[in-house]
Amino acid sequence: MGQTNLAKRNQSGRHITFKTIKLANSEIYQGQLVLINPENPIRQALSPGSLMPLSSIPAIHTLRDGMLLERTCLRQLAELLEASQGINDIVAVSGYRTKQEQEHIYASTLAERGAEYTACYVALPDRSEHQSGLAIDVGKLSKDVDYIAPAFPDTETYKAFKQLAASFGFIQRYKEGKEAITQISCEPWHFRYVGYPHADIMERNDWCLEEYIDALKSYTHDNDHLLFEDDRSFVEVYYVAAEAGASTTIPLVLCDRYILSGNNKDGFIVTAYWDKSRRAHV
Ligand code: DAL
Ligand code: ZN
Repeated sequence: MGQTNLAKRNQSGRHITFKTIKLANSEIYQGQLVLINPENPIRQALSPGSLMPLSSIPAIHTLRDGMLLERTCLRQLAELLEASQGINDIVAVSGYRTKQEQEHIYASTLAERGAEYTACYVALPDRSEHQSGLAIDVGKLSKDVDYIAPAFPDTETYKAFKQLAASFGFIQRYKEGKEAITQISCEPWHFRYVGYPHADIMERNDWCLEEYIDALKSYTHDNDHLLFEDDRSFVEVYYVAAEAGASTTIPLVLCDRYILSGNNKDGFIVTAYWDKSRRAHV
């Protein structure tokens, strides 16, 4: 793994705004960095075209037929399973859920396991990351897999999966010690795709998604960007607050490629990449 530089630097005068693009403010609610929790519910249904069946990658074991995930999330999951050599030990337990499925899971867990357990392990409908297609529950492949809380040991290939997750853009979303912030108990089985290097930055700083989204607000386009470097690329991350009205003008720095995401709260996050093999950092 490469070197990381998370220090702030004063870049006044260094920014080269290559272009600006206008985004509808409804885009705040879409993208790989959306924060979904009780305070920030899902506000827009997912477009069905962004989902892919897990059956399109036959090597992945699935608990049920017909499972779906957002396509980049699925591609990265397949690569992570391959890299951790976990493809034959790990089962995909639960991926994309419709609002109706989450309602059913919530009601049946409440009836079968009680209110306290449900509050710890099941998000209310429209507060579940599973409705975004960006969350995957994984478990130890066995005859009896608990659908709500699958076993995911901290040994062997499961440990390798967890250790490599960030390099493929995944975080363990609900960690021990963060319950007061996430309002969900520790879930070693629930991984959320946020993209690389975001997952790596969060891991290194011990930030849960709520903390990362908050931290990013201090890195704006005009001031300091959050800087990251690995063997292959330089990355800058910055926040653009949504403007009043229907749309926001997003300033883009000169880069090789970029990814835009809403934060599901109040603005947008730009991730700009420079490939080291292509050019020196400007
Ligand atoms: N188990 C997580 C919190 C969910 O229901 O989305
Ligand atoms: Zn889950």
